[in-house]
Amino acid sequence: MVKWWQKSTFYEIYMPSFKDGNGDGMGDFSGITSKLDYLKELGIDGLWLTPFYPSPKVDNGYDISDYQSIDPAYGTMEEFTLFIKEAHQRGIKVIADLVLNHTSSAHKWFQESKSSKDHPKRDWYIWRDEPNNWESFFGGTAWEYDEATEQYYYHAFAKEQVDLNWANPEVKVAMFDVMKFWLEKGVDGFRLDVINFLKINDQFVDNPYDAEKQEQEHVYDKDQEGILGIIEEIAAFVHQYPDTFLVGEVGSEDLDILKQYSGLGKLDVVFNFNIGSIAEFNTTKLYQQLADTEAAYNETQVPTLFFGSHDMSRFISRFGGDEDRAKLVATLMLTARGVPFIYFGDEIGMRDWITDDINKMKDVQGIMGYKLALEAGKSHEEALVIANDKSRDKSRTPMQWDTSEYVGFSEQKPWITVPNNAALINVEEQKNKPESMLSFYKSLLKLRKEHAALTLGTYESLRYEDGLMTFVRRDESERVLVALNFSEQLKALDGLTTGSRLLLSNKRTALDGKIRMILGNEAMILKEDLE
Ligand code: GLC
Repeated sequence: MVKWWQKSTFYEIYMPSFKDGNGDGMGDFSGITSKLDYLKELGIDGLWLTPFYPSPKVDNGYDISDYQSIDPAYGTMEEFTLFIKEAHQRGIKVIADLVLNHTSSAHKWFQESKSSKDHPKRDWYIWRDEPNNWESFFGGTAWEYDEATEQYYYHAFAKEQVDLNWANPEVKVAMFDVMKFWLEKGVDGFRLDVINFLKINDQFVDNPYDAEKQEQEHVYDKDQEGILGIIEEIAAFVHQYPDTFLVGEVGSEDLDILKQYSGLGKLDVVFNFNIGSIAEFNTTKLYQQLADTEAAYNETQVPTLFFGSHDMSRFISRFGGDEDRAKLVATLMLTARGVPFIYFGDEIGMRDWITDDINKMKDVQGIMGYKLALEAGKSHEEALVIANDKSRDKSRTPMQWDTSEYVGFSEQKPWITVPNNAALINVEEQKNKPESMLSFYKSLLKLRKEHAALTLGTYESLRYEDGLMTFVRRDESERVLVALNFSEQLKALDGLTTGSRLLLSNKRTALDGKIRMILGNEAMILKEDLE
C-alpha cells in the first residue's frame, strides 16, 4: 500500500528564521501560519519544524527544558493548534523535531537527578565516578564534573545537553508519553534527532583514535547493541496512530549501518548524509552514492534526498555559487528516487553567511571551535576561520521574503546576509519571474505531482558518464527521463524514443522540437509514453 509520505516533498523550517509574525525579530507560529499559502503554492506536502519547545537555546532548541509546551518565543499552544489546523486544511502534514537522546540541563528531570546520588531520577542520566576518553561531538570531553555529588555526567553534545539513560525503562515510558502528547495534538510524525545515539556501550570502552582524520573515532558511543530494538518499539508505538511518518537522523557514513534503521517495522526513512552533506561538488561521488544506496536498500526501503539543513552550509554556496548548478542539483533532489527534504530558503537560492566578528556567532559548535582553537595556541584570526568553518549559523539566517529583510546591516538582526546579487534573492522579486530559482522549484514540484513515475516509479536505468547523469523513472503508464549535464559541454542524449516530450529545462523556454543534445549545465526532464 502506498503511503502519503512516499509521494511527498518535505520542507524544513528552522524555527527562529522562517517568518516573524509579531515583529520581535524571531520566527514564530503566527509567522509560519501566515506563510502557509506560500508553501502550498510552492508545492510542498509536509513540513519539518525544528524544536519549538521551551529551551535555554544553548543549541537553538535542541536542548529542551519542557517537552510538553511551546516556547513562548514561538507563540502559544493555541497558536500552535491553529497552525496545525490551517496546515491540515491545505493538505500539508507537519512533522515535529524530537530530541529523545538528551534534555537540557535546565530540565527538571536533570535538576532532580543532579540533586543527590539517591534521587529516584539519578539513573535517568548517565553518571560515573570516572570519565572515559569519549569526546563531545562539539569538541572537548563528553564528561562534566558535578562538584556537589562528586560524579561526572555524560553529554554527547554541549554540556547543557545531558544524555538520557535509555537503559532505564522509566526514561522510555516518559518519552513515549511525550510522543503521545504531540500525536494527540495532531502532528503527523517526528524527525528523530541523533536517534542512533540512544544506546551507548555499557562497559564504557574507550573510543579509538583515527590517525588519518586526526580525530576520535566514535565507535562505542553510537549504534550500540539494543538500539534497533528501541527503534522498533518507537516505530510500533508511533505507527499505532494512523498515517504517521518517522524520519531518523542517523549520523553514519556506513551504508550497512544506515540501512538497518529503516524499512518494515522500523523508521520510515533515514537521512543519508553521504549524499546530503557531500562537502565539495563531485558528481562522480554523487552518482556513486546514489547507486550504492540503491544497491544497499531492499524493496521496503526508500532513500531520502536532501542537500541542505540547519546543520550545514547552504548547497549553492558549498557547490560554488552558480545558479544553474543549483538548479541541476534541485532537479536531482526532486526527481531521483527518494523522499526529498528542501531546506527553507534554498528555493530562492539563499547563500551562506560568514562573520568577521566572533561576538556575532550564535552557534555553539562554532563558538566551541573558536574556544578550543585559542586553547590550542591558534591566533584570533586562525581561530575565527576554524569557528566559521564549524559554525552552522551559515545557513540559519532569516528567510529573505523581500528586500527589506537583508539590504543593509542591522544591529537587531546582525546576521543578515548580503550576497553579490542580493537584489534578486528574495521571494518578492522572484515570484513572478519565470527564470527565477523560485519559479524553477515550483515547476519541479508541479511535475512531481503530475507524474507518479517521479515519486513511485522505479529506476529503469541510472547512469553517469563524464559529467552527464541520466536516469529513467518508470511506472505502469509512463517513463520519465531525467538528464543532468553537470559539465560545460554540449552532449548527445542517447536512447530517446520518437515520442519524447520535453517537460522542463532550465535552459530553454520552447519545450517542443526534437531533442538530440543537452546543453552545458542543462537539466532536462522528458516524458515518454509507453506503447
Ligand atoms: C542534531 C541536530 C543539531 C543538534 C544536534 C544535537 O544533529 O540537527 O542541530 O546540534 O542534533 O541535538
